[in-house]
Amino acid sequence: MRTFQWSHELKIGHPRIDEEHQLLLGLIGDVEERLEGVGAVPADAAEIYQRFLIFLRSHCDFEEQLMRDLPSRYVQRVSSHCRNHGQLMHEARALLPLLTAQTSKAEVLEYFRRAIISLTRDLIMDDSELVGILLREHHLVLMPDGGGESELRLS
Ligand SMILES: [Fe+2]
Ligand SMILES: [Fe+2]
Repeated sequence: MRTFQWSHELKIGHPRIDEEHQLLLGLIGDVEERLEGVGAVPADAAEIYQRFLIFLRSHCDFEEQLMRDLPSRYVQRVSSHCRNHGQLMHEARALLPLLTAQTSKAEVLEYFRRAIISLTRDLIMDDSELVGILLREHHLVLMPDGGGESELRLS
C-alpha cells in the first residue's frame, strides 16, 4: 500500500511542478511496494530510489531556476526554500543505504514510511508559497483550459 497516492488535492497550480511531484510520489510508491511482504529488500528497490534521487535533484534545480528570476525582495524566502531543498536532498540520500544493505523488508518498511511522510510534506509545502509568489509577480498565469489546469507563461 502506498502512503501517498497522487490526487488533485496535492496540486499546487504549476503544471510542471505538479507533474514532477506526481512522478516523484510515483517513484516513492514503487519503492514502498517493493518493501512489502517478507524476505530481503529486492535489488530494484535501490535502483528505483536512485532514479528518485536524481529526479528530485533536477526538480529542485528547476524550482531554483524559477526563483532566481524573482525580484530581490524575495531573497530571504528564496534562500530559505533553497536551504530546505538542500536539507530535503540530504535526508533523501540518507535513506539509500537502507535499501542496499541486504536488510529485511520488514526492518526497512516502517522506517521508510516515516521518512517519506516528512519528505513529502517538505517537498510540497514550500512550493505552494512559491506558486503564490510566481502568480503575484506574473511569472505564472492561471489559464483555465476546461480541465481546471493552469498554464505556465514565462516572463
Ligand atoms: Fe517541488
Ligand atoms: Fe521546492
